Amino acid sequence: MTQHKLIAGNWKMNGSLAANEQLVRAIAQGMGDANCTVAMCVPAPYPEQVNRLRSGTKIELGAQDVSRHEQGAYTGEVSAPMLREFGVRYAIVGHSERRQYHGETDEAVADKAKAALAHGITPIVCVGETLAEREAGRTQDVVKRQMAAVIHVNGHCISEIVVAYEPVWAIGTGRTATSEQAQEVHALLRAQLKAATPHPERVHILYGGSMNAANAASLLAQPDVDGGLIGGASLKAPDFLQIIAAASR
Ligand code: 13P
Repeated sequence: MTQHKLIAGNWKMNGSLAANEQLVRAIAQGMGDANCTVAMCVPAPYPEQVNRLRSGTKIELGAQDVSRHEQGAYTGEVSAPMLREFGVRYAIVGHSERRQYHGETDEAVADKAKAALAHGITPIVCVGETLAEREAGRTQDVVKRQMAAVIHVNGHCISEIVVAYEPVWAIGTGRTATSEQAQEVHALLRAQLKAATPHPERVHILYGGSMNAANAASLLAQPDVDGGLIGGASLKAPDFLQIIAAASR
């Protein structure tokens, strides 16, 4: 178990210059001396704006994806060095929406994590099973396979990554994994990391999937739940602030 929790908001494809300004100001004002790390993973056009808005606050900046390539003829891609120039410290990689809609493979996700690490960006590696996979009793196999690919490529610096367990059936559905279901998979991931690094306790393993103000405290109380990756509730300042408060206790 890590001491200091990490609460990361994944804005997904939401926001505007005006809405971002309101949201960041409200969070910065409300979070006070939060006893956890708070990050906002913003859409690709907004790091410059949010980097400016967060100046003088404890909010960290994140991206929602990063290219596996450093530079070159990859139209539409954004590289880790580019993100770094705008103060980005975290990058989500392998979110299920990218695996599903953009065909990201386990290997691509592992390469993206490597590209991020090479430029001082902490990858937030997402793993998680679909409903069909859970119902077929395949949760452990799927999550282990996704994690193994990342360990294979990044073994030497695996303790520097962040992992997010996001059961696909809990994302945006209002259906949260129970604290016990989350803890079970988190413990499995911790054990898998233990085989790859002498310091598995240093790796933050976040839970994501309909985490909200009401259920955050009980999820975060689990021994292997080191924080949250929050979608919908990260766009509402009062809700996100309550999650930050729950993680600060
Ligand atoms: P929701 O919190 O909206 O379910 O989204 C979770 C998620 O996908 C975070 O990356």
